[in-house]
Amino acid sequence: MKKILFAAIVGCCFVACSSTSPQSLDADKEIGYCIKQTNRALIGMQQADGAYNYTMQPRNILQNQQQWNCRQTSAQEWCSGFWSGILWMNYAITRDSNIRQQAEGFTHALNHLAQQPVFDHDLGFLMLTSYGKGYELTHQAAYKKLLLNAADSLATLYNPTVGTILSWPRHVKDYGGHNTIMDNMINLELLFWAAENGGRPELRDIAIKHAETTMNYQFQDDGTCYHVAVYDTLTGDFIKGVTHQGYADSSMWSRGQSWAIYGFTMVYRFTKDKRFLDFAQKVTNIYLKRLKETSKDWVPLWDMDDPRGTQAPKDASAACIVASALLELCQYVENPTAMQYRQAATAMLTDLSSDKYQSRDKNVSFLMHATGHHPAGSEIDASIIYADYYYLEALLRFRSSCGRPATRGT
Ligand code: GLY
Repeated sequence: MKKILFAAIVGCCFVACSSTSPQSLDADKEIGYCIKQTNRALIGMQQADGAYNYTMQPRNILQNQQQWNCRQTSAQEWCSGFWSGILWMNYAITRDSNIRQQAEGFTHALNHLAQQPVFDHDLGFLMLTSYGKGYELTHQAAYKKLLLNAADSLATLYNPTVGTILSWPRHVKDYGGHNTIMDNMINLELLFWAAENGGRPELRDIAIKHAETTMNYQFQDDGTCYHVAVYDTLTGDFIKGVTHQGYADSSMWSRGQSWAIYGFTMVYRFTKDKRFLDFAQKVTNIYLKRLKETSKDWVPLWDMDDPRGTQAPKDASAACIVASALLELCQYVENPTAMQYRQAATAMLTDLSSDKYQSRDKNVSFLMHATGHHPAGSEIDASIIYADYYYLEALLRFRSSCGRPATRGT
């Protein structure tokens, strides 16, 4: 009976999706492109003896460069997991044993991160994208153990008086208190996952409390987020909302808002608490409204309030994160909203898959025109590894009918 019901639901979903999928996006073709670029990148990363230095992981390709600039894996380098994640997604599609070998090699280079005191909240990004993606595919007990260790380690940053994880211990003095950044929402997935996979049940409580506190304090009335919320470490009182990577404290830094969209959608996946679903829609709707007002296509300016307007650099990474999130969010809401979100995600992926954004023979990444840290003058209008990661994840979500969480179990 359950099987029949499941088939009916999947069937309806498929019909709904096919009727709303524009012909312009050929997900199989674009996924094939990503696999081709990954293989080109792997060749470029080979040492003279044909081996790889697994401790050096792709981070960015700047303009007029062709190969990845790699960085040493460390707790301070928050992007080290994305390359392994790309390789695991590649393996999920191709089942190529060489790709699996390289995925394991680059993943295992992060082993030490789960066995040392946590440096900052990015431990979640580092472990989920590497060991997390690998565990979904291989179910290796050692991976699970490291993920559970990492979740416990991440939870040591939680301040129960504030009700959030301290994102950057090193910046407490600079900000004048306990700081929590919007990106931190993504790392809650590690806590939810751990609680459901043999870890301490309190990890789930921490994740929920962090999401609630963030929802209550880290947004302006219209749903635009502050990149950084600062709280009094001792009383837990909210002090201020400021920016770190955006144009101004109250501007819409596109990637910050994309973390909010992705994060609250993911929190709803684990909690089924309607407050989070409603909030995911609120932060999505203001993003889509502002995107329409400020951009000529579906890829946002790096910050939607940059006074240069359409002359300002784009951030393709934000478009990738939002597209992936919307392909999940569209499953949780009714039509016509579901259709609107799916069409928006499809339009984003269609633009990203055009010659304007795909790197093609210019370099070995998937995409160009991402912006990392504009105020610091770093990675402006570049290829950045997390843009590629979320682009491939979004394409996989698109392909798996209405976008069940991409490689979770793929
Ligand atoms: N987590 C840092 C960023 O989004 O750039």
